[in-house]
This record gives sequence, C-alpha cells and structure tokens, in this order.
Amino acid sequence: MKVSIIGSTGRVGRAAAFCLAEEQSVMELYLHARKSSLEQNKGEILDINDALAAKGVRVKINTSSNLENLKDSHVVVITAGIPRTPDMERMELGKENARIIAEYSLKIAKYAPDSIILVVSNPVDVMTYVALKYSGFDKRKVLGLGNHLDSLRLKNYMARHFDVHVSEIHTRVIGQHGPYMVPLLSSTSIGGIPIEYYSAHDYFTDYKSFDLKHTIENVINAGSYIISKKGATEYGPAFAIANIVNTILNDENQILTVSTLVEDLAEGVDEVCLGVPVKLGYNGIEGVVPVQMDQNEKQAFIDAAKFIHESTKDIMI
Ligand code: LAC
Repeated sequence: MKVSIIGSTGRVGRAAAFCLAEEQSVMELYLHARKSSLEQNKGEILDINDALAAKGVRVKINTSSNLENLKDSHVVVITAGIPRTPDMERMELGKENARIIAEYSLKIAKYAPDSIILVVSNPVDVMTYVALKYSGFDKRKVLGLGNHLDSLRLKNYMARHFDVHVSEIHTRVIGQHGPYMVPLLSSTSIGGIPIEYYSAHDYFTDYKSFDLKHTIENVINAGSYIISKKGATEYGPAFAIANIVNTILNDENQILTVSTLVEDLAEGVDEVCLGVPVKLGYNGIEGVVPVQMDQNEKQAFIDAAKFIHESTKDIMI
C-alpha cells in the first residue's frame, strides 16, 4: 500500500514520514520534494532506513521532484505550504497556501486519480475545500486533519488531569481547527461514565479543580504555544496523520473527527469544509456520523461554519 507526502521536507512532513515508515500498513512511501531539497530527503531516507533496521521493518521509501511518482498512491498527504509563526492566526496563511494546494491538487488528480487526499496545511478547513474543488474528487476522498489533533489534545489534557489512561476519555472537538473549535462536552465521558456523573461522584481526583474553560483555551492555543517554544508542531500532527492513514489502509471504520464537505448547514452556508465525526475506511469517508449537541454547542457549530464559509470565500477569490 503506497502513501505519498507532498511537503515532506517541512517539519510536519518529515515527522509524518518517520511515523508512517514504521506503520505495518505502509508498504511504500513516496516523499515529494522540490529539486533544491532532494539531497536533504536522500539523507532523511538513509537515516529512516537505519532506524527501521533496528525495528525490523521493511518499507520502500523514494523521493523525487517529479509528481508523476504519485502514481498508485492510496493516500496522498499534503503538508506543503508556508509555515505559521506564533503571532499568526492559521487563516493568515490563506491565499498563499491556497495557491500551493490548488496546484498540487490538480497534479494529484492527474497522476493519482484514485487516491484519497489528506490535507494538513493550514488553514486546514479552507485548504480541504480548495483540494476538493481543484482535484474534482468525490467528497468522500478528500479530508483535512485539524479536529482529530484537537480531540487528541483535549483527551490528553483530561487524561492527565484525571490521571486515567487516555483511551478512557471519550470526547471530541468539532467545527474549526482554530478559535471556532467546538468541544462536545455534552457527550464527554470518562470510562463510559458521563463527565457530570463522574464529577458528582468525585472518583479519584477533584473534578471541581478541573478548569474546563482553561483546558479548552489550552487546546485552542496549543499549536501557537508549541510553535512559540520550538518553532513548529511536529510529533502531534505526525501521529494524528498516522492514525488517519492507518484507519484508511486497514479499513478500520474508526470514527474520527476530520474536515470534510458538509452541505446546507445553515442559512447562507451552502457548502463548507469543517470538522465532524466520520466513519473512515479503505474507500475514505463512509459517512458523517450524526452528533447530538446541546443548544450552545449547536450555536457554536453554526458560528464555526459561518466563519469558515466566509473565510473560504475571501481566500478562494
Ligand atoms: C497544529 C497545527 C498542525 O495545531 O495546526 O499543531
């Protein structure tokens, strides 16, 4: 099973390559690079191969600057684009990254017409829409990373606070990968127990000391905060990418939150790409999973849709 990365010399692309190389489901990895970065990629491949020898993993890894080599990819991951600095909102990358994603999407449609596109470049919800429109692919074949990573971050912070294994935290973040993200607290549970009941019975930690508002702010600001410390986020996005790719290649039908096209969500919002839970398998998105929301969540979700819809219109012109 072949996976390609466009943007493989950037920090997220490089980390994703390293993660994906280790996955049993990936037989072949193609790392696309500009001519000026090919030597760097050759070094990277040698280094990854050394690491894989220690793990006993065999995978064919190639690099080139010729997009024809996307041929036969089952998944193409796009991490290309100008990177964000800590003082920038993801939306500020809009027009420049849209041009880059549009160009690559046309090429993916030409050389890997049966592939699934996973967009990682920011602002990811808008870039997912750009990739969908320029590739001309079916909506089930184009998805964006954002809210899966946000959901993992929320789970991680909660698991650490409550001192339970992260797999015990059932929660998700939908909407925008950015300030308009919507944590679905009304359906959050710990070990299958609704969080309000868990808190009322005060199991092992003091729920009252759990500052939900602050935790959500931390999820919203996680990307910028990490960028301010180390210049980029790498491992978080890389493992989230590997999760999604694995779910597809292994036909796992996991319910993950990814950016996808949703139609007629609100008045004036005919089409928008934003984060919703989907059932994900070998052929891409099997379907959007309906979500139960309380009134506040519903309103916040519609606000997110309107905001992304407006931004998409500005950026696409
Ligand atoms: C982040 C980037 C991928 O949130 O947007 O880490």
